[in-house]
Amino acid sequence: MTPPVSDREKRFQLTSVAQTQAVGEALGKLVRHGDLLVLTGQLGAGKTTFTQGLGAGMQVREGIISPTFVLARIHPSEIKGPDLVHVDAYRLAEPHEVDTLDLEATAPTSVTVVEWGRHKVEHLSDSRLEIDLERAALPASHTSASWEFDDEDEGDEPRTLILRAIGPDWPPARWEETLQTIDTAITHTKALESEHE
Ligand SMILES: Nc1ncnc2c1ncn2[C@@H]1O[C@H](COP(=O)(O)OP(=O)(O)O)[C@@H](O)[C@H]1O
Ligand SMILES: [Mg+2]
Repeated sequence: MTPPVSDREKRFQLTSVAQTQAVGEALGKLVRHGDLLVLTGQLGAGKTTFTQGLGAGMQVREGIISPTFVLARIHPSEIKGPDLVHVDAYRLAEPHEVDTLDLEATAPTSVTVVEWGRHKVEHLSDSRLEIDLERAALPASHTSASWEFDDEDEGDEPRTLILRAIGPDWPPARWEETLQTIDTAITHTKALESEHE
């Protein structure tokens, strides 16, 4: 059974790495200090790839990598906007372990993005944006052999991105603007991709 869809939930189909980054970048232009983004998705789903786009859109210092060993990294703004605090909570089992990172100190003045953050960081804010990334199911027509062949092609695979807004920081007007901006970014990126085909 499909779970009920909230009125602030939206799915996007992304067919390339560039599209995932473009969505991140579009969101990066809309986020404000105090925003919390909770990223969910299996290993390799694209959480870090998305965050690289987010950082580009926010114009923070470059060098976003998977923060697997360093649990949290601060990327300072280069335009006097909010800093980006990028966290990987994979190794943190309990919400109280997250407390050792002292994200409360930076969250109000930064944008905090947490990979594997579900059920661990919700206490940081009364609002959040949940971003789920899923590898799209293989179409029935794809034998594993042809799928692997596609894989070598560009490294681009389809992803489903599910965006969910929770709390008072995401009133309808901001939510609608966000969906519009993301739609535009995907359309624009797809157009560039088809030009290069
Ligand atoms: N549509 C897509 N969106 C994002 N990543 C993709 C996509 N297609 C292929 N990839 C590849 O999947 C991998 C995602 O890695 P990463 O962003 O580090 O994932 P995570 O942080 O979720 O573990 C990268 O190697 C990227 O090139
Ligand atoms: Mg990652």
